[in-house]
Amino acid sequence: MENEYNQDVEAIRPVEYPHMNDGVYLDHSGATIYAKSAVEGFTRKMLSNLYGNPHSENSPAKLSGENVDRIREKALTFLGADPAHFDLVFVANATAAIKLVADSFRDLAEKTKSGRFWYGFHKDAHTSLVGVRELTYGYHHCFGSDYEVEEWLQSQSRALAGRHSLNDLGLFAYPGQSNMTGRRLPPSWCGRIRQSATLQNCYTLFDAAALAMTSPMELVFGDPDQAPDFTCLSLYKIFGFPDLGALVVRKDSGHILTLRKYFGGGTVTMISTLSDPWHKIKGLQAPNYHIHDGLEDGTLPFHSIIALGEAIDVHKKLYVSMKTVSKHTSYLLARLYRGLSEIRHPNGAPACRIYNENRCSAAFEDPRRQGSVIAFNVLKADGQHIPYAEVEKSANSAGIYIRSGGVCNPGGIFTSLGYEPWMMDRALSAGHHCGSHGIAIIHGLPTGIVRASVGAMTTKREIDSFLDFMRAVFVVSNDNHAETGSTTAIASKGSSSTLYAPSADNNEAMRMALDLPPVDLTGKYYAEVGELPRPGPRPLSHNPRMTSCPVIPLAAFPGLVRAGM
Ligand SMILES: Cc1ncc(COP(=O)(O)O)c(C=O)c1O
Repeated sequence: MENEYNQDVEAIRPVEYPHMNDGVYLDHSGATIYAKSAVEGFTRKMLSNLYGNPHSENSPAKLSGENVDRIREKALTFLGADPAHFDLVFVANATAAIKLVADSFRDLAEKTKSGRFWYGFHKDAHTSLVGVRELTYGYHHCFGSDYEVEEWLQSQSRALAGRHSLNDLGLFAYPGQSNMTGRRLPPSWCGRIRQSATLQNCYTLFDAAALAMTSPMELVFGDPDQAPDFTCLSLYKIFGFPDLGALVVRKDSGHILTLRKYFGGGTVTMISTLSDPWHKIKGLQAPNYHIHDGLEDGTLPFHSIIALGEAIDVHKKLYVSMKTVSKHTSYLLARLYRGLSEIRHPNGAPACRIYNENRCSAAFEDPRRQGSVIAFNVLKADGQHIPYAEVEKSANSAGIYIRSGGVCNPGGIFTSLGYEPWMMDRALSAGHHCGSHGIAIIHGLPTGIVRASVGAMTTKREIDSFLDFMRAVFVVSNDNHAETGSTTAIASKGSSSTLYAPSADNNEAMRMALDLPPVDLTGKYYAEVGELPRPGPRPLSHNPRMTSCPVIPLAAFPGLVRAGM
């Protein structure tokens, strides 16, 4: 699949995304942005129809119910999952989908001899997958690399991976794409586990929350025999709106979820309360009920599902297919990767350390290996790290929206950053915790990363504006000032960015902005404030100087704030 910039985006942006004009949004992995037509179409539907609770039998209720059924199929078809082979369960988000599977496995496992299920997960797992281990009473294993998974799949002698018996109920989970580095993992593991003679009692939970944002999902669902048993998705990461998630269940594996203990309005047909307690759950009444009937407790988010129908239609109208989106975002990601890796300090040292688990730069051009995300840290000319939170704050004040920190990926962070287990203990005892108020650097090692991610509607110009910002703020000349000369050169080389027009006024505004105290772009500021003094730990939040960060007023970047056009 070739990478190709989708020129249509240039025309789509001003019409469909006017709300993206003020700034450069590069946090699509958090949530992508909704199109104007999708919101307007939803509003029109809401105002011209009467929708009731689909559990009732009246006409407004039936209208909702029919819409929900239709949109469920539409969503499956959009994902390339044939409704004959797959069912889709609506949930709040990907985490809720994961928890539904985990609860079902725990409940089913209680009926087995060992009373618990074995859970294997890949180290690139998001915390939402890691949390499943807490339902296994200690019966879990974290695979530290793809290599270890391959050994597990290929070698009879390694088939246990901490499992006491291959007959024990098992679940193996991994992300289709790391939400930290953007590396894509092989979807083929799911089919191979199903075909493995030794792993017959092991099911697969595939976390497609990050992958599905910019990848055609027929690559995963195209062949039902190779597809995951259970796949979780965050639909708002594909469409921007509505805030919904989904669990796609391979129908032949759906029975495994039917013994879940909990039931709530919607998933039960009859219960007794006062006398001998019994109940009839829909999950166990196939073929009268579908798999989703037994798993969607309570009233469905039916208004949101109606919005999803609009969002899918508008997405198809704007982008035609996920293949177009994939080519477009791969093109942009390669441009971003090349741009960041080429930023150098005057002494020739790189300004960015990019986390590339594929260990090959060509991977950034290859959508089979890399998604639309890049993770990096910013380095000073002497190779020391600039705290990731400072990078995010500086970008934010310049109207550039990126993410930083541990990004809910503990295994990925600590392997990419070269941590050993004892160093995590030290970080914890030093007062570090996940989130933007953690300690950014401990004894020279960062505890997190900076993440930039692109979406279907990202433009080249936004990528170039971000790169210009990085050069202007973090590349330091020998006289301690940003390389205003080089940014002028960038603009005059024909960059599409209007961030730094080569005018004396702009250069002066930028120079003034960058001179703001207490920013010392030689790195002295960061060395003093951003790192723990040895030997005793001292959380940064205890240091009053941390309240000030390189604040660059928006006014200094007149082109940038409209770069989304
Ligand atoms: C790979 C991955 N898994 C799970 C999640 C959790 O998704 P949600 O917040 O929708 O539950 C995310 C969110 O970013 C993710 O990227």
